[in-house]
Amino acid sequence: MRILITGSRGQLGNELKRCLSTMKAEVGPIPVNYLGAMADYVDCDELDISDPIAVSQWMDTHAYDLVINCAAITDVDGCETDEKTAYKVNALGPKNLAKNCAIQGAKFVHVSTDYVFPGDTPGERVETDVTGPISAYGRTKLAGEQFALAANPRTFICRSAWLYGYVGKNFVKTMRSLGRRLDEVTVVNDQLGNPTSANDLAYEILKIALTDAYGIYHVTNEGTCSWAELAARIMEKSNLSCNVVPVSSMQYKQANPESANRPHYSALKNQRLTDTVGNEMRPWQEALDSYLQHLPELEG
Ligand SMILES: NC(=O)c1ccc[n+]([C@@H]2O[C@H](COP(=O)([O-])OP(=O)(O)OC[C@H]3O[C@@H](n4cnc5c(N)ncnc54)[C@H](OP(=O)(O)O)[C@@H]3O)[C@@H](O)[C@H]2O)c1
Repeated sequence: MRILITGSRGQLGNELKRCLSTMKAEVGPIPVNYLGAMADYVDCDELDISDPIAVSQWMDTHAYDLVINCAAITDVDGCETDEKTAYKVNALGPKNLAKNCAIQGAKFVHVSTDYVFPGDTPGERVETDVTGPISAYGRTKLAGEQFALAANPRTFICRSAWLYGYVGKNFVKTMRSLGRRLDEVTVVNDQLGNPTSANDLAYEILKIALTDAYGIYHVTNEGTCSWAELAARIMEKSNLSCNVVPVSSMQYKQANPESANRPHYSALKNQRLTDTVGNEMRPWQEALDSYLQHLPELEG
């Protein structure tokens, strides 16, 4: 099998690489179909996915069975101030890749986000629920989903949320760093979602990509919490005495007026996963504890 992984230096890209090179994930072995797979790992220096000519040229000179797009502009607040650039990468990038996958008959996995939902009603979202992003990041990611699905019939959209990997920046690492320096941190308590291990997501993506059941999947660790609850568990499990002070989104926005709006209820239900390859996503607490245990050894 020949595989291309774009945005490979990011959180998810690194976990896909770890899974494919060791043939195991934290939750179990990688399907044997990937034994001996040849994977190209590229990031923006080697292949800028927003450049249609560069993508065509790359795909013309390489043949793939599977392309997994982890490349994105993931700075949610930054996307508000430069939606044009975010659109080029998050919307036109997957379009460029999907178009070229269709030409060579490759499967395409595009990773998306819970922020495609408005999150204005309590509960979990299933794959068929109506979208309606309330941020520039969400709008550009939703456009990317739509372009990818339209350009290649062999497309999987994997929506995940609140991702943390061993390599790169994330909320868990930020909280640990603040927790070592401060006595207290203020964290939003009225946005609910699913913290998700990038290693667990990588594992499920590799399972999904073996099927022909194309379309949209929700892939998050099981269970829902607020950012403040997540921060409290990070402090506790990291043996940090820093106090987590819960604040509302409105209070946070007043203190950070440039920040993007984020959905209150964007927790995802892994319905399609359960109905197809099986939902092996762990409870978020278990995945987080495992991450915190491995972090000192694997942090990058
Ligand atoms: N992080 C989350 O909480 C979260 C939640 C839900 C869904 N997702 C989605 O999951 C996927 C992976 O996220 P992640 O957290 O692994 O992201 P990440 O760590 O920010 O990695 C993204 C990678 O893409 C690269 N990139 C940016 N622009 C590019 C371009 N034009 N061409 C090629 N590569 C480019 C980045 O390089 P630079 O660092 O040099 O810009 C970075 O290495 C993304 O699609 C994201 O939208 C993420």
